[in-house]
Amino acid sequence: MHNQQQSQTWLKYFLSNQKTLKSVDWQLPDDLSPAQQTLIRQSLQAFQRGENSEGKHLLSFAQQYAHTQADAHYVDAIKLFIREEQRHALLLATYMKKWEIPTTKHNHLDHCFRALRRQFNLRFSIRVLQVAEMIADVYYTALARATQSALLKHLCHHILQDERMHLRFHAEQLAMMDWEKGIIGRITGNLLQKCLFYPTLLIIWFNYADLFRASGYDFPRYFAHCQWVLYQGINYQNAYYAQLDKPLSNLNTV
Ligand SMILES: [Fe+2]
Ligand SMILES: [Fe+2]
Repeated sequence: MHNQQQSQTWLKYFLSNQKTLKSVDWQLPDDLSPAQQTLIRQSLQAFQRGENSEGKHLLSFAQQYAHTQADAHYVDAIKLFIREEQRHALLLATYMKKWEIPTTKHNHLDHCFRALRRQFNLRFSIRVLQVAEMIADVYYTALARATQSALLKHLCHHILQDERMHLRFHAEQLAMMDWEKGIIGRITGNLLQKCLFYPTLLIIWFNYADLFRASGYDFPRYFAHCQWVLYQGINYQNAYYAQLDKPLSNLNTV
């Protein structure tokens, strides 16, 4: 019952977000020095690639799970979520084209994440996805600070608004699936999240340290920001989990 009510709420959110989406102001000043173009190039290619997925496996896992829960709204919400990510990919690709930065289909970390997301079940797939969402939050924050381009800052903030809601969407779903597994499920779920998260943050730092440094991060600051995003996600998930034993009327939603 929790599932259906939450999925319906999220479906409404995604539908309204689709309708009320502010268009991007492509006329904003967009000054990038040659050095800045080099600085953002590789990471933009990687994150654009990460955003661009058909989501076939995720959708298939969602359909299987929703069938067991008689929760068709969840499948519709996941479809709209995938569409939002594809829109982010399109926005980034449009921006990259402006600066003649080609899109890529080859990125080792993205390849690993896609392979991992195809394994096991919805619970595991969303956990992997949630790690990518968390790192993306830190990345877009850094990218917005790294250059003087008003357009790039605008794009980053535009995407970040959606990403923060995605974090909540997945956190609620993870809390519900962990709850079905009991306390052990919750502990192992949070542990798994951390096991995926820390290596990822290190890989991202070693690949794009120049960009993070240009935005004012040294490694301790970058690590602290990542930790903050991780614990915000886990705390939100735990708080939601704690409410699941209470009557439905007490559930906080978006
Ligand atoms: Fe995205
Ligand atoms: Fe996202």
